Amino acid sequence: MADSASSWTNPLRDPQDLRLPRIAGPCSVVIFGVTGDLAQRKLLPAIYDLANRGLLPASFGLTGFGRRDWSNEQFAEFVKAAVQRGARTTFKESTWEQLAAGIRFVRGEFDDPDAFKRLSDTVAELDRVRGTRGNHAFYMSVPPSAFPIVSRQLADSGLSKSQEGAWRRVIIEKPFGHDLQSAKELAETVSSVFDPESIFRIDHYLGKETVQNLLALRFANMLFEPIWNANYVDHVQITMAEDLGIGGRAGYYDGIGAARDVIQNHLLQLLALTAMEEPVSFSAHDLTLEKTKILSAVRIPKDLAAHTARGQYAAGWQGPEKVVGYLDERGIDKTSETETYAAVRLNIDTRRWAGVPFYLRTGKRLGKRVTEIAVVFKKAPHLPFESTATRELGKNAIVLRVQPDEGITLRFGSKVPGTAMEVRDVNMDFSYGRSFTEASPEAYERLILDVFLGEPSLFPTTEEVNLSWNILDPIEEFWATQGQPQPYRSGTWGPQQADDMMHNDGRAWRMP
Ligand code: BG6
Repeated sequence: MADSASSWTNPLRDPQDLRLPRIAGPCSVVIFGVTGDLAQRKLLPAIYDLANRGLLPASFGLTGFGRRDWSNEQFAEFVKAAVQRGARTTFKESTWEQLAAGIRFVRGEFDDPDAFKRLSDTVAELDRVRGTRGNHAFYMSVPPSAFPIVSRQLADSGLSKSQEGAWRRVIIEKPFGHDLQSAKELAETVSSVFDPESIFRIDHYLGKETVQNLLALRFANMLFEPIWNANYVDHVQITMAEDLGIGGRAGYYDGIGAARDVIQNHLLQLLALTAMEEPVSFSAHDLTLEKTKILSAVRIPKDLAAHTARGQYAAGWQGPEKVVGYLDERGIDKTSETETYAAVRLNIDTRRWAGVPFYLRTGKRLGKRVTEIAVVFKKAPHLPFESTATRELGKNAIVLRVQPDEGITLRFGSKVPGTAMEVRDVNMDFSYGRSFTEASPEAYERLILDVFLGEPSLFPTTEEVNLSWNILDPIEEFWATQGQPQPYRSGTWGPQQADDMMHNDGRAWRMP
């Protein structure tokens, strides 16, 4: 399929000139599920922010497809409200007016071919009036159960087929299935309509600035790579903790749980980037090659009872606020066995990582919102001090703080000032906020722009998705036989089982 984004000659996109931003060529996006939570909180604000930063073409088109009985103007009002609530950059009338001129709404149901005919007419009208030149992306911000019908309608209405010199792309939101089998079926459905290179699966963690900085930290420096292996590393802890509960997402979350929601995708992607070998280049092909090698080498523990943990939040306090337990959330069955906390120990069978456990944990309603990757080093083999001098010396660590306080911490031992020799842990911090003046873009800004540019490096491939399910499926099968997850009080750091799991290995979770 012709890829006009890469063949279109934009004088501002000279790859040699890093001072100039990457700007999308003429195009539009159609969003299915545009009244949903994700679209309102993330997608519409991200599109506005891109426009406001001058990264979208002046002729950009934005079409919402939904059941509401809205005119283009009414939908534009809805978009404006979402933008004013959620955009990162300031609201500018001039940006808004330019964007609003390309906003359309198509009313319809997914099973109505006439609605897709109207969508097709709208897209053609955008080509004529706005000059979008046949380049259109379709964003499926809908549950996976709707993928087959929407894909089929896009095919039947001719919308999925690009004309000569133009592109059509589809963006899929997770969950990519709920196990390996369903993921494969989903992939088949979508790839029967779109070419593999036109399918973009969003894992928004890959669009986070700090996650990309992991590549810079590892591969742009001499300092870290020599010690990034089993000779020096004791273990790795990857934590994604949230203080919020499930909010209004009972319908999505119940029956899915923490592991399918974020370990299968975000955390295994972080593991792959932390553990992979240096790619030949940062092209999508070379990156995915290294990530798939690592995901294929992941081995789950034999004793799943001892090396995994599941929990479910009970009532408690989130700061000053009293909050209900998971089973009392609106829309949740009182007998639900869905976990809101999950921890697993994984090993990676490669020379670099033999014997180094990777601990992954995630949970809702934990002590605070924090995502970090901590590479924890072995203790020095010999300490030429009195034993009392190093009582408070822990293990060295490099901590990549993904959010919210983005940066990197190095933890090492330092002499405590005074006449005695006493060594204690200290932290050396690099913080994005202090070192750079420009704020990081939101992950969705980066990823949506990459779709328009036809740049696939930050999107997981089908193979990565399948390999991740391959890791999780046996763990989920085991958990399904274990009944109710262990309760933990909201505002704490998860169930006792998770602490025991670390304790069994003679280690402890970091307290972020
Ligand atoms: C989503 C999960 O992928 O990531 C949510 O479905 C979770 O359950 C969210 O809350 C967290 O994203 P972020 O960017 O706020 O860490």
